[in-house]
Amino acid sequence: MQPAGAIAVGTAVGEHTAAGQPASADPVQVAEGDVEQMLEGETIKHAWVDVAGAERREFPLNDPKILEIAGYTEWLSYEPGESVRLFVHTTAPTYDIEIFRDGLKPLKVWSQTGVRGVRQQTPENAYAVGCGWGAPVEVPVDTAWPSGFYLVILRALGPTGATIEREAGFVVRPRKGERKNRIALVVTTATAAAYNDWGGANSYRSIVDGRSTLIHSPKLSLQRPWGRGFLRLPAGAPRHCDTPDLEPFAAPYYPYVDWALAHGYSRHYPDAGWAYYERPFVCWAEHNGYGLDYFTQHDLHFRPDCLDGYACAIVTGHDEYWSWEMRDTIEDFTRKGGNVARFGGNFIWQIRIEDGGRTQVCYKAHDPMSATSPRRSTVPWDTKIVNRPGATTFGLTGLGGIYVRTGATTPRAPGGYTIYRPDHWVFDGTDAYYGDMFGAAPARILAFEVDGVDYTFRNGLPYPTHVDGAPESLEILAMAPAVRGEPRPRHGRMVMAPITEMPSKENWPMFYDIPNIEYGAAMMSVMIAGIGEVFNSGCCGWMEGLARGDRVVTAITRNVLDRFVQGRGRGNKE
Ligand SMILES: [Fe+2]
Repeated sequence: MQPAGAIAVGTAVGEHTAAGQPASADPVQVAEGDVEQMLEGETIKHAWVDVAGAERREFPLNDPKILEIAGYTEWLSYEPGESVRLFVHTTAPTYDIEIFRDGLKPLKVWSQTGVRGVRQQTPENAYAVGCGWGAPVEVPVDTAWPSGFYLVILRALGPTGATIEREAGFVVRPRKGERKNRIALVVTTATAAAYNDWGGANSYRSIVDGRSTLIHSPKLSLQRPWGRGFLRLPAGAPRHCDTPDLEPFAAPYYPYVDWALAHGYSRHYPDAGWAYYERPFVCWAEHNGYGLDYFTQHDLHFRPDCLDGYACAIVTGHDEYWSWEMRDTIEDFTRKGGNVARFGGNFIWQIRIEDGGRTQVCYKAHDPMSATSPRRSTVPWDTKIVNRPGATTFGLTGLGGIYVRTGATTPRAPGGYTIYRPDHWVFDGTDAYYGDMFGAAPARILAFEVDGVDYTFRNGLPYPTHVDGAPESLEILAMAPAVRGEPRPRHGRMVMAPITEMPSKENWPMFYDIPNIEYGAAMMSVMIAGIGEVFNSGCCGWMEGLARGDRVVTAITRNVLDRFVQGRGRGNKE
């Protein structure tokens, strides 16, 4: 349904199109020209501030001579009929707002020009306490707006006519009790929040005594903009799957970090967020006629009944961070017969959500709550203190795998899965044979982070050992070697790629509850949960297979979705 007054704008606001569709030749909405440029009497640049320690952060300079704009919404999701409060900081006297329902054919649903600009004051530690900006712009969510991800483009106009653009975004849920589609897409807002480094800190780095450090911030505010690239990316932004094989004796490197630094994007843009992860999946789903209702991980936390009535819930991309309550909602859904398709990877950390949803907490170690509520400690799910194995919800756990083709971890792996159970229904129609590989170049679905479980081989077939809580019903369908952290020195130093994610025993002792810290496996699996079924791709890069037309990835995705949307749980199908 097209909302009244909506204007179709082609593939203008993003990078990806569905498999088989030509990529947009002219992603006109991406302002390439706003990479630093000097104009007479006016400086246009990103609000990047150099920070001691050879790093930098995205943070308002608040200099009236420098054109900058940033914004965030009060909440991550809204229901039709509610009002979005949009907080914007800009040094421009006026700015424009455009809101699109993003996807295969982005649809402009709302705009306002000549909005009076407000220079906001921002606390130094806004990443932890929030920006606290005032004078919000109120945007009513029209009851005709379909559930979806809505991209807010903020465009500031400088006195010489130059413009700069930044983004905010929010999910529109279906109206309570209304189910337009059989599938619910859960947008991975908790993992995006963990990687969002706007203001200089996230769950991997922070600013201590004025220096950028690799010490994570245990508290992260959702009351701040998203890092540049989390919501919108230009065509050509490097992707994990495009990293070439490591040449013999060459030093591992990360091309996307170089690109991000060169073009003024967050170095974490390929780690999490709508633009990199959910959007390519959504474009494929829309092109192939799969209707989706949208929720966020935070909706699972605060609205435990939000998945009721759906046949299938999808999580896609990178979903490393979950709260206890979010897991409860997924497990309750499958217990009652819902099916879950997880086209995602890297299930590791427990988080807590505080301040009514405004703050995300992940200490990673030494959580003060460990003394009073040890099971709610924000450490890996697989640690003894929490004792809620990651594998019990989706079948696999991040600590069973972690990295493929990242830095020094399997840098010459082909990036695809080897098939071990070709007769399983997920492979129907693919002509699969034992030993086939799928998902390799150009898609390289296994590049970056993956999940697995402890396993053994019998008669040429992999079986879970269940020592890590892997469910009895878990079937391992395909596998590839993975590395949890590369401990051997390379080029005179320990690479442990990425070094920021490999904890030292001294700092993060809880990690070392887990045996065999070095080698693991990526796995694709299916399990029974309650009276529902759970498919798990076990990798963050599944959508690359869809976007690049991998025949087997596409067929598996169709098989999973077509089976899962037809009925309520396994009991109705077998
Ligand atoms: Fe991750």
